[in-house]
Amino acid sequence: MASSSAPVPSVPSDPSGGPARVVVLVSGSGTNLQALLDAIAEQGSEAYGVEIVAVGADRDGITGLQRAESARIPTFVRRVKDYDSRADWDAALTDATAAYEPDLVVSAGFMKILGKEFLARFGGRTVNTHPALLPSFPGAHGVRDALAYGAKVTGCTVHFVDDGVDTGPIIAQRVVEVRDEDDESALHERIKDVERSLLVEVVGRLARHGYRIEGRKVRIS
Ligand code: GRF
Repeated sequence: MASSSAPVPSVPSDPSGGPARVVVLVSGSGTNLQALLDAIAEQGSEAYGVEIVAVGADRDGITGLQRAESARIPTFVRRVKDYDSRADWDAALTDATAAYEPDLVVSAGFMKILGKEFLARFGGRTVNTHPALLPSFPGAHGVRDALAYGAKVTGCTVHFVDDGVDTGPIIAQRVVEVRDEDDESALHERIKDVERSLLVEVVGRLARHGYRIEGRKVRIS
């Protein structure tokens, strides 16, 4: 979280205590989740420093959940429409996530704004990946907006989540060139290629080395 009252966690809290416990939140195809699962499968949880303890979603029937189930990772779904208010949904998502006692939460294509209660509990330890170079082109249509603006380069940003829309402290970014022939889908696929490897790198570094958030600056130890 960007706010100065936010907790400043040290993750992993006990470096000798094994891999960081990570809950991943998804809404769609879950290829970023798959990249994290592949890194764990290839490197092992201990070496990579990450154990995915659960995958949460805001909708049923998505490939992201199937990927978790194939990897035998527990899943949970909390749909906004099943609750009387957005605040109730946020409380339910917070409780479902908290049940897995994560050190870090990764929002990997999770298409909902996380609410006050969630951030009170997991602020400063929730990472989001966004398909544009923040602070340019925040929001749900970062790829489309960069293309429509005529940007010549765009890319992806991994950042901590605060109470704004894609406004939290930036951890890492990579640049992707926009081609004249690009449409939204072609450009998004090229961004996602880069985004997946950046997310794998960043989550592993945060988990293995720990970090501090100093205002807008993220320092990985
Ligand atoms: C990513 O580009 C993410 O930044 C955006 O949605 C995409 C999710 O892709 N918010 P996937 O579900 O991980 O395949």
